Amino acid sequence: MMGRQGKWAVVLASLMAFSSAAQAQITKANSEEFSRFKRQYESWHQTSESSEVVDALEGDPNLVILWAGYGFAKDYNKARGHHYTITDLRNTLRTGAPKGPDDGPMPMACWSCKSPDVPRYIEANGEAAYFDGKWARGGPEITNEIGCGNCHDNNTRLRISVPFAERAMDSIGWKWEDATKSQKQSMVCGQCHVEYYFTPGDVFVKFPWDNGTQTEDMEAYYDAIQFADWTHAVSKAKMLKAQHPGFETTLTGPHGRNDVSCTDCHMPRVTNEEGKKFTDHNVGNPFDRFEFTCARCHDQGKDELESVVANYKEMVNEAKLKAEKQLVHAHFEAKAAWDAGATEAQMADALLAIRHAQWRWDMAIASHGIHAHNPAEALRLLASSLERSADARASLARVLATNGMTDVVAIPDISTKAAAQAALGMDMKGMEADKASFLEGPASKWDAEYDKKYGGDKQ
Ligand code: HEC
Ligand code: HEC
Ligand code: HEC
Ligand code: HEC
Repeated sequence: MMGRQGKWAVVLASLMAFSSAAQAQITKANSEEFSRFKRQYESWHQTSESSEVVDALEGDPNLVILWAGYGFAKDYNKARGHHYTITDLRNTLRTGAPKGPDDGPMPMACWSCKSPDVPRYIEANGEAAYFDGKWARGGPEITNEIGCGNCHDNNTRLRISVPFAERAMDSIGWKWEDATKSQKQSMVCGQCHVEYYFTPGDVFVKFPWDNGTQTEDMEAYYDAIQFADWTHAVSKAKMLKAQHPGFETTLTGPHGRNDVSCTDCHMPRVTNEEGKKFTDHNVGNPFDRFEFTCARCHDQGKDELESVVANYKEMVNEAKLKAEKQLVHAHFEAKAAWDAGATEAQMADALLAIRHAQWRWDMAIASHGIHAHNPAEALRLLASSLERSADARASLARVLATNGMTDVVAIPDISTKAAAQAALGMDMKGMEADKASFLEGPASKWDAEYDKKYGGDKQ
């Protein structure tokens, strides 16, 4: 799959993807134009080397319970290279197995952080037209993985490429025109590595930043509009799912506060063997290019800094598992309370506490790399998650007692991903079979349909 990405014409397709003259540019493309961007292209293409798929649910089956009733309980892999955004979106069980362009379950908004075809489509057709309908409609329109057009204009100047990210940045006072170089270098990543939600009704992407970018600001925002991503299948709490709020949580860390940008660590300026200086486009692990990243500002050696970060990772992981354990209990205790006849009014406080506890936990966990970006914030969030879980469980103990239940509430076997999914009665075999027929059916035609329309894959 995705053999199309190796073809160099695609790079120009994606660089020019947002331009109305895309087709003309692609057919005119010649090797001279390509060689101007050779180093950027080659390092960008190296994101394909980060190809490993790590099943996060297998590694931590608590997640299945915490996301019960929501897509993430079906399947959730750790992030890998930018090269795989389209493949991974098509493959995940979360996007289901649509039979045609108008079939669900997910909206068009799902494509928003995956491809330079998104800004191209919005530029050509408008935002409302882009967000209209189910995601399968976008299949033949959006086929290039994250590329030049996501971060650059036609003259390779940095840009914010999508209007919803621009509105959000404006709302926190980060106007592109007035932004510093370092802010711009983080804003291009902050188009996607942020918390966002799909507005009910029109299903636009919005960043919940009206009150600010702190976890508590966003929680208050969502509470005020009574937004829920889903209703939890075990506890019936109205839940929030954090996306990947790396931008927000990095801002308040030691580097963010000192104006160190995402690209200072992830896309450094490097010098190659021929002495040529360029921006290394392989966003990946900054330790792999230590002399151009950390060592620019720190005297410590690579081993020393790596062990500092690894140590933080261990601390965050330990706190994360503790927070999860309390949340799992709270969800099952809420179920026991409903089963014992508890009323909505009796449950209200506990369910709100569960919502908050899980939101705060998720803001720490879904912020990939937080142990490097802002470990203190991760630990603060997990501590405040534990506090709200304690509120929930104390309240549930009272509700259970009021309804005649004093036994300890048992937790089913959730020791593996399969056991946890079985405990929730999920039909994984059925979902996998549907997905396979979707990949062999509608999805297998999307690349060819795109090429026919845009001529994007001519060699
Ligand atoms: C994820 C965002 C991102 C993507 C995708 C991206 N770039 Fe860049 N690019 C940057 C950043 C950041 C810089 C550094 C600019 C700065 O700091 O002002 C840069 C710099 C450049 C430069 C200036 C020279 C240099 O090396 O600094 C060129 C040319 C360039 N990119 C071409 C490309 C091409 C071609 C593609 C597609 C193959 C691409 N970029 C994809 C973010 C991106
Ligand atoms: C258009 C949206 C978008 C932009 C812009 C973007 N990213 Fe990403 N990034 C993603 C998605 C989506 C993934 C997960 C890809 C997958 O697993 O299929 C990802 C994955 C990553 C990873 C994990 C890579 C790995 O090998 O494990 C890193 C690191 C990363 N991005 C950093 C950055 C940085 C730094 C910037 C800015 C220079 C940036 N990203 C800009 C969407 C984006
Ligand atoms: C001070 C350097 C530094 C800065 C600044 C920085 N990062 Fe990172 N980031 C790292 C390191 C180091 C790791 C990997 C930690 C590890 O080895 O476990 C990482 C990990 C990540 C990951 C997870 C990769 C994975 O495969 O799980 C993502 C995504 C990411 N960073 C995005 C960003 C974004 C977006 C920004 C800006 C908002 C940013 N980073 C700013 C150093 C930095
Ligand atoms: C552009 C400069 C720059 C780069 C690049 C950079 N740092 Fe830093 N780092 C800083 C500054 C500034 C501080 C804050 C120093 C202070 O508060 O005294 C800092 C602080 C730290 C701290 C102490 C944080 C704390 O808890 O107070 C650690 C650890 C660290 N950096 C690790 C790294 C690692 C690992 C990398 C590479 C992945 C890296 N830094 C890249 C500038 C940088």
